Parts: sequence; structure tokens; C-alpha cells
Amino acid sequence: MTRDKGPKREFLVELLEEKIPKDLQVHIPHRWWFIGDVLIASIPKQLLHLKKEIGEAFLQLEPKRARVVLGKIGPTKGITREPNFEYLAGERNTETVHKELRCKFKLDAAKLTFSPGNHFERERLLKAVKNDEFIVDMFSCVGNLSLPIAVNKSPKQIIAAEINPLAFKYLEENIELNKVTNVMKAIKGDNRLVLKEYEGKADRVISGYLHSEEDQIRQAIRLCKENGMLHYHVAITARKEIQTETIMNIKKLIESEGRGCSKMTRKRVKKYSPGVEHIVLDIVIN
Ligand SMILES: C[S@@+](CC[C@H](N)C(=O)[O-])C[C@H]1O[C@@H](n2cnc3c(N)ncnc32)[C@H](O)[C@@H]1O
Repeated sequence: MTRDKGPKREFLVELLEEKIPKDLQVHIPHRWWFIGDVLIASIPKQLLHLKKEIGEAFLQLEPKRARVVLGKIGPTKGITREPNFEYLAGERNTETVHKELRCKFKLDAAKLTFSPGNHFERERLLKAVKNDEFIVDMFSCVGNLSLPIAVNKSPKQIIAAEINPLAFKYLEENIELNKVTNVMKAIKGDNRLVLKEYEGKADRVISGYLHSEEDQIRQAIRLCKENGMLHYHVAITARKEIQTETIMNIKKLIESEGRGCSKMTRKRVKKYSPGVEHIVLDIVIN
């Protein structure tokens, strides 16, 4: 993620000085990031009519790294978390291979979610995993959280569920591309329906979706074996009472499943939206 208010942003402003009226120049993007060779910049609505010029300027700013430029023009949508990106400049082909943590993530950057802000969570998760674990990734996308484990660790097996056919296609391709077919298996469909046979088997369950329904949380709990670890991601306001309420609700769900929880820790992943944080609860399910 680049939040470069230094020389790069200054150069971007220089490139756009003649093309953007003075009173609108404060809106020139401060924030851009890469997925593979696709550059993505947040475009405020005041500059949408100048998106082509902004895209061309980014290609000049990052000639070696950017093949395509996309603009983020709104929030990510729906259960498949389709990003709200518009084409700005460069090649029309938005399929790319993003390299991180010794993995190759192939994906269509215009149509699927891969959050650079989750990098430290991918790294943290990787460090937490021990050899020989049975792991279920309930919301896999293209392998965002579980592929690094398959590539860098020695799990017994990773079961990766994904409902979106496009994300599933790349998930399967990435398992092949990263040569981890021996330890990682993709399963297409709704995680409430397709994971039943793994109930009680998982050393670790990754629930990496911020808007899980109650029946998905129940499914996550059921997947855990005794002393299994559940990583439950949630978007939550920073207010303490709301956080306490969320934790109490989870504890109630665990109890109503006839299970217990011996340990729960909370980690902030990133800012999600104004006043709302992406957090992950690490819960040991007994
Ligand atoms: C926002 S992505 C998160 C990817 C990854 N866990 C991460 O944190 O980077 C959520 C993914 O879950 C998938 N998904 C949503 N509902 C699902 C369901 N009921 N069963 C399986 N996958 C689902 C979406 O299609 C999407 O690819």
C-alpha cells in the first residue's frame, strides 16, 4: 500500500497540474496500491470526470510496475465481495499474478477482492500454524489467507471453500500453480452446506469474511475439533460496548452449540470504514 504524500504524490500532482483545475487538485489521490501489475487508486467523486487523465498520469508515475490502472469508486459489494473498480488506463486485461509470501495469487483484480491491508494478518496466521494441522478456510476467495500456509508450512490438509464461481476457478488454478495439490483441496459452494463432513475435524478454522451470518458462525464452531482454533473476522465499531456485545454473542453461540471457549484474544487488522474496524477474534473452542 502506498500512502505517499512525499515525492511520488508531488510528481503525480505535477503530472496533473495542467489537467485538473486548481480548486480540485486537493482531491488528487493520496492512496494507491498494487495487485500484481494492476495499480488501484481511490478516486473521489469530484474527480470522476477526469479519470482518464488520472489513469494516464499513474502510468507515467509507475512505468515499470503498472500495466493497468483501476479506480476504486465505491465500496465492495455483496456476499462475493466484488470490488467497485472502474477501468482508468493501460491494457484492458485485468488478470494478473500477485506475488506475496512466496505465493503466486492469480486473479482478475477488477472482479475479485485481494486486500493489501490484510498482509500482516496473512503473515500472522502463517506464523501461528503448526505442522500437521487440519485447516478449513470457509471463505477462501483465490486462497488469500490459506494458500500461504499450504506453500510455506506442512499442514496435514487444507480444505478451502468458495461460493463465487470466478473466485473458485482461480482458487483451483492457484493450488496447481503453487504446486500444493497434495495438501490443499478447493470445494465449490456455500460453506453452510459443503463442509458438513469436516465437522469436528479441524485444528484451525479461518472465517475470513466480515459479515458472517449466525448459521455460518455455528458451522465454524462445529468444524473445530476439541481445542481447535477459530479465527473469526468481523467488522465492528470501535466503541467498547459494541465490541463487548459482539464477544458476548459469540460466547452464547459457542455455549448453545454445547461447546466451550477457553481463550479468546482480539487483534485489529485494519480500519474498515470511518469509525469501523476489521478485527479478528482468535477463539480456542473446547
Ligand atoms: C472478502 S473475501 C475474503 C477472502 C479472504 N478470506 C481474505 O480475508 O482475504 C470473502 C470470500 O468469501 C466468499 N463467500 C461468501 N459467502 C460464502 C459462502 N456462503 N460460502 C463460501 N464462500 C463464500 C466470497 O465469494 C469471497 O470470495
